[in-house]
Amino acid sequence: MPVAPYKNPELSVDERVADLLSRLTLEEKAGQLTQYFYTGTGEPIPEGLDIESLPPEHRIHVELPARIEAAVKAGRAGSLLFIRTPELSNRLQKYAVEESRLGIPLLFGFDVVHGWRTAFPVPIALAATWSEHTVEAVQSAAAREARAAGVHWTFAPMIDIARDPRWGRMIEGAGEDPVLGAAMAAAQVRGFQGDFGDDKLLAGPKHFLGYGAARGGRDYDDAEISDSELWNVYLPPFRAAVEAGAANVMSAYMDLNGVPAAASRRLLTGILREQLGFDGFVVSDANAVRSLAVQHFAADQKDAAVRALGAGLDMEMCAFDPAFDTLPDAVANGSISEEALDDAVRRVLTVKFRLGLFENPYADEAASDAVLASPEHRTLARDAAEQAIVLLKNAGHALPLDANAIGRVAVVGPLADARRDLLGPWIFAHDTSETVTIVDALRAVLGEDAVSYEAGAGLPERLHPSPFDVLDPSIERTPDDYDDDAAIDRAVVLAAASDVAIVVVGQRQNQIGEKASASTLDLPGRQLEQLRRIHATGTKVVLVVVSGRPLDIRWADEHVPAIVQAWYPGSRAGEAVAAVLLGEVSPAGRLPFTWPRHVGQLPLIYAHNRTFEPDDQDRRYFDESNAPLYPFGHGLSYSTFEYSNLTVGSPAIAVGDSTTVAVDVTNTGSREADEVVQLYVHQRYGTASRPVRELKGFRRVCLTAGETQRVEFPLTPAELRYWNSETASYVQDVTTFDIGIGADSTATLDASLSVIR
Ligand code: NOJ
Repeated sequence: MPVAPYKNPELSVDERVADLLSRLTLEEKAGQLTQYFYTGTGEPIPEGLDIESLPPEHRIHVELPARIEAAVKAGRAGSLLFIRTPELSNRLQKYAVEESRLGIPLLFGFDVVHGWRTAFPVPIALAATWSEHTVEAVQSAAAREARAAGVHWTFAPMIDIARDPRWGRMIEGAGEDPVLGAAMAAAQVRGFQGDFGDDKLLAGPKHFLGYGAARGGRDYDDAEISDSELWNVYLPPFRAAVEAGAANVMSAYMDLNGVPAAASRRLLTGILREQLGFDGFVVSDANAVRSLAVQHFAADQKDAAVRALGAGLDMEMCAFDPAFDTLPDAVANGSISEEALDDAVRRVLTVKFRLGLFENPYADEAASDAVLASPEHRTLARDAAEQAIVLLKNAGHALPLDANAIGRVAVVGPLADARRDLLGPWIFAHDTSETVTIVDALRAVLGEDAVSYEAGAGLPERLHPSPFDVLDPSIERTPDDYDDDAAIDRAVVLAAASDVAIVVVGQRQNQIGEKASASTLDLPGRQLEQLRRIHATGTKVVLVVVSGRPLDIRWADEHVPAIVQAWYPGSRAGEAVAAVLLGEVSPAGRLPFTWPRHVGQLPLIYAHNRTFEPDDQDRRYFDESNAPLYPFGHGLSYSTFEYSNLTVGSPAIAVGDSTTVAVDVTNTGSREADEVVQLYVHQRYGTASRPVRELKGFRRVCLTAGETQRVEFPLTPAELRYWNSETASYVQDVTTFDIGIGADSTATLDASLSVIR
């Protein structure tokens, strides 16, 4: 029998897709558009098992998986998520390839957010490196590990702009700024997906669009975003991800301006496909199509399916009972055209062919272990964590500590020795025995005897358990320990008897991320009280913050000489923190968000518009300053840098022309160090008010002591235009820009550029 054209790798992807599409029944088409949560244990489900007779607790692990496996064999499932081993991936793939009628391979998806077995720093920390090179390398290592485990597709990067740190998912993104966000989005897509090679993952930037604007920072709440913010702030990272080739996008859960994002034709077709030119497929967020009815938008599941598909959503992600099961009926009764269904199936199949799944559907079980335990990946995890750490304060050169004259070191705080929490959320295939904690690393460098540890004030649990903890056997908890007076007393006594106290404070990894919005930025539990008592002993204190959001550390900023933002640094957390504290590395991470003083200031951003009585800017609250604790872009170094000789290519350019801005950066200190050089502009006047300043470029450079480098930034029409909501179009105004280059968003803007007709 001649081989079917769709199986012939000599033919083009389009020809193969067209042939395969012509063979599919309506049910099989709907199947390709369905993605199921697979919650089986990995053990094969015995043939002939009477699932009706199982007790309810077996629903998740046996009944649903059994139904899904049957759907796979019947050609009624296109994709599964949450498969973590190559063995399971291969077993299920075999059902699709060998037992389904047409043998269409499954696409296995997972949230590979910042690593697989090797945990890299959380994404907000990756953004704090301000290094596209590092971020690309990290996500390409993450892709290599996940692909070796049988995963094909990551629901990442999350590129939602986040301007309210109460929203837990800000940890998954790059913070508040569209230019930094766009650069990080593109770097991650290149790292994850690159050329679609066999150690790459399909990248799925998410969540389209505006999820980060959740009202009150409450996860999943609806969002209202003006047109100007939509185009100028929330969209640029998606534009960059699409331009970098991302072949999947995930839609957002919530209503945006009154319409659920998962069924918004304006978003999914008008903006994503027609304006940005996206040609991949759109997947819903988990159960988001079913939720259209819950959101008072769709009448029932059938209506939900029709409206989602009609808006441009191609694949439904769901736990059970897909709304898309109703699509064959909807075609039969004319609620949706078969062409619309075919368009969606075509997009999904195209990606399966592009990923090479028809030729290469299986994971290499024998090769997988070596990739997962790769020493290169572990080294990269350490390098990235070092690059991400931000030195927030360093009065009187309190840091670095001199390893040779350090004396007795007290390390305090449960996060200092937390094998799971130091990895951060969205890690599922880790091995906590591979985590190097802060205590481990300091002891390795300074010797067991020099370093004493007390957990001290514990960290209170969440009000309600995180659903993710159920999936994670490595979570260890001592509930209620945060209120233990004796533990705090022990920590204070230890600190008093030491020469330096390294106090590690922050939040547990399950207090940030999805379903982990916060109503306060206070340090949880009694951490502040303990810090004050340790400080009162007179021992020198160094504060290390483990968090994925800014916390209220006003007291520490006033009293503690050195503060280090360590984030959740990943598998080699402790070594990176120790390298910074002991000066092996000069810190050069920079804040990807404005660090507020107090939760009541939120949202607080640097790129706000200038408004009435600007001179009174800092006196709008009667009880607190308007100013942040630390500005966007902030981060200190162990070296010093001078900026000089700022030039703008030409003083005036015509609309549509480009120029270059350049500056000399000199390392005036006595050691090699990285510096993040940042370009800001401000448009003085035009057809809309523009922010007081906007980041337009950045470069992380490494300079030896005394070295000078000239750093250049292009300024093109793409950087100088903006979306004008009056004209509903991009405009480039005839105007003058103030321009400055410096080390953070308070850089002086002392150069200018005129744009003339
Ligand atoms: C819901 C989250 O919003 C999304 O980001 C994630 O990819 C899916 N769950 C699958 O885990």
